[in-house]
Amino acid sequence: MQKIFDVHAHYDDEAFDGDRFELLDQMLLGGEIVGIVNGATDIETTLFGISTAEKYGGFYTSAGYHPEKAESAPEDFIEKTAELTKHKKVVAIGEIGLDYYWKDVPRQAQLEVFEKQLALSKELDLPVVVHDRDAHGDTYDLLRKYRPKGIVHCFSGSVELSREVVKLGMSISIGGVVTFKNARHSVDVVREIPLDRLMLETDAPYLTPVPYRGKRCDSRMIKFTAEKIAEIRGITVDELLSQNIENACLTYGISL
Ligand code: NI
Repeated sequence: MQKIFDVHAHYDDEAFDGDRFELLDQMLLGGEIVGIVNGATDIETTLFGISTAEKYGGFYTSAGYHPEKAESAPEDFIEKTAELTKHKKVVAIGEIGLDYYWKDVPRQAQLEVFEKQLALSKELDLPVVVHDRDAHGDTYDLLRKYRPKGIVHCFSGSVELSREVVKLGMSISIGGVVTFKNARHSVDVVREIPLDRLMLETDAPYLTPVPYRGKRCDSRMIKFTAEKIAEIRGITVDELLSQNIENACLTYGISL
């Protein structure tokens, strides 16, 4: 059986309210999925990640505040986040970053919350999971300043920007977008990035790969993303999936 590690998903999302634990039972206890790192977006979703990680060996979580929730972060969110990272299954600070696509959260609030969490990741020596949407300039200014280890998730930049990620010592993760017809950008990035800097994610329930585009995404659908990337790279799906597991374990400090 092919072994799948999903480096970034959101099983706290309401899209899973009807069958969350049946689905996780099936995927994680069935052995098809060997690892999932849930992307927290605030304290509540970090707590969801921790309690779920206590149920399943292969389930891990990040801790942190997403840019879309920057304004609702409490005064002491850094202390609270730091406290939660003491749990052994919290493997990263994330998902953190900047989102200038949606204009509803002021940039100043996003920048402040992002920068504080970058500083925290350095202090705790934890990797980060970075969200960058239409905010390349400010995101990379801060990454160059703090030089965290970790992943730029759902990487949406150019080949040049992916070279910058590699130079910074970080990795990218790629989701279902690479299977879309208009994915020229992602295809070029995936063709060139060193394989030890590339990981696979779903961002479930979002960004479902073809042929299920438009339906709810779950970690099993990584195989369609993997097929596409393996084809671009001229390697087998198995080779890609095992390299992905190795990269994920190294990045998150996990031993399966
Ligand atoms: Ni995400």
